[in-house]
Amino acid sequence: MQGPGLSEYIDQLLGGQEPLLAELRDDAAAKGIPEIQVPLALGRLLEVLVAASGARTALEIGTLFGYSGILIARSLPEDGTLTTIEASAKHAEVARGNFERAGVADRIELLEGPAGDVLPQLADRRFDFIFIDADKASYPQYLEWSLRLSHPGTVIVADNLWRQGRVVAPDDPDSDGIARFNREVTSNERLLTSMFPRPGDREDAMSVSVVR
Ligand code: SAH
Ligand code: DHB
Ligand code: MG
Repeated sequence: MQGPGLSEYIDQLLGGQEPLLAELRDDAAAKGIPEIQVPLALGRLLEVLVAASGARTALEIGTLFGYSGILIARSLPEDGTLTTIEASAKHAEVARGNFERAGVADRIELLEGPAGDVLPQLADRRFDFIFIDADKASYPQYLEWSLRLSHPGTVIVADNLWRQGRVVAPDDPDSDGIARFNREVTSNERLLTSMFPRPGDREDAMSVSVVR
């Protein structure tokens, strides 16, 4: 085949990585933070879904260095807020700085700690948009919490649902957690869900759901 592949073609059309986001990515890599942020087209999809759903309150589980959080936060209306949860103190510190650099710090609440401990503190809150992207073994628990913290119309997105096929014959707690999440997210009667391959270097999938 001549010319670029499909993902390169799409990334080109989408304008490539913005200079500031590329800088944050390179700085994070230099600090030894893994480059497992959402790929460009998935990041753009998060922005589209946040804007299209009219979300004012967003929740993210798994901040890393703040890449997807910046995209979500900037797609919210001016009075919108993103609550993002990160277990690693190092990642949280870098993300805080990046939220400042991106000019979205005023609309982001970063809660530091394992999501399993932090989510119960949010029990009285309701979110319009939820992005699940943290430790894979806990995904079933994160889906339960997402349902509890949602209302009809809440959009729930989850990343890494295929893991290069490891979820089909799970031989580790991460893949087993995802396999259970996948069955639940597609069969729970409170959810209308679709699942698709996602862009990125490694073959993977994602889901988009709306709470009925
Ligand atoms: N959403 C980010 C990528 C998240 S990578 C982006 O696209 O930019 C997964 C993150 O989840 C890592 O930063 C990891 O430290 C964090 N994490 C792992 N276990 C966690 C837990 N139990 N609670 C909260 N965060 C966790
Ligand atoms: C990993 C985590 C992610 O959220 C991701 O998108 C890719 C890889 C990981 O833990 O390896
Ligand atoms: Mg991910």
